[in-house]
Amino acid sequence: MTDPQKTAPQDMAESEVLAGRRAVIIGGASGIGWGAAQRFVRAGARVVIADRDAQGARTRAEQLGRGAEWAEADVAEELTLERLFAKHDTVHSVLNCAGVNIPGRLIDYPLESWRTVLEVSLTGAFLVAKHAGRALADGGTLTSIASLNARQPAAGFGAYCAAKAGLTMLTEVAALELAPRGIRANAISPGLVETPLVTGLTSVPEIQAEFTDNTPLGRNGTVEDIAEVALFLASDASSWMTGEVLDVNGGAHLRRYPDVMAKLSR
Ligand SMILES: NC(=O)c1ccc[n+]([C@@H]2O[C@H](COP(=O)([O-])OP(=O)(O)OC[C@H]3O[C@@H](n4cnc5c(N)ncnc54)[C@H](O)[C@@H]3O)[C@@H](O)[C@H]2O)c1
Repeated sequence: MTDPQKTAPQDMAESEVLAGRRAVIIGGASGIGWGAAQRFVRAGARVVIADRDAQGARTRAEQLGRGAEWAEADVAEELTLERLFAKHDTVHSVLNCAGVNIPGRLIDYPLESWRTVLEVSLTGAFLVAKHAGRALADGGTLTSIASLNARQPAAGFGAYCAAKAGLTMLTEVAALELAPRGIRANAISPGLVETPLVTGLTSVPEIQAEFTDNTPLGRNGTVEDIAEVALFLASDASSWMTGEVLDVNGGAHLRRYPDVMAKLSR
């Protein structure tokens, strides 16, 4: 039998895979970002929660303790990202979770809504890549949260699908450009994950049932499901991976996306 006293320090070293590293989590005040922030802290990271919701970011940093910091940052406002990265001299990992969706069919879709979705989910991702790319320490990591909708079309999600598909290509370009400094750029494409963003879908039984039917593993994702993969991509366990987009969706990419709009409009 193994002596627990001998294995404990090694186990701790193994679990604290981000010890001594600073991670900036954008969109960290809620949902997937908040789940990742908690996971990264347990892995030993010093976390900065950045969000356009300043009060939310502050509250979350206080909840985390262990030296967690917070900042107000809006990915659509370049100046706020410049300020965010200027404040921290060494950043090892950036996780960008900022994203919004405004559903609507293309023929009725207001240009203003298109611009809002693209501004946050694609232009914002470019601005994060630009400023994180400058600020990250050599060997650092940039991880973006894309979506199942980057590869699976959904009626009524035109702007969101286009933005997330753009984000996955942007990830590949960032990986090429940042590789000479050993910085790895990857993305995670979650399926339906229970967060405040999707309560409008999960609270409609007919829609929830269709998601479950189209998810081979038969359940929604949790923020922990995504946080584990984000930790993997931020850690040395993935040190030979860059330009990769990981589907984390219970197998939903193997089936079809529910017709959410048809059910919402009924
Ligand atoms: N929940 C899902 O089912 C799901 C599925 C696929 C992809 N995603 C993506 O995951 C990411 C996180 O979503 P979530 O479900 O955790 O949502 P959420 O609404 O719970 O959290 C999003 C966070 O991002 C912040 N944010 C929004 N716009 C911002 C901006 N312009 N600048 C800075 N912060 C901003 C919000 O204030 C919030 O704290 C998004 O990019 C979303 O598109 C979510």
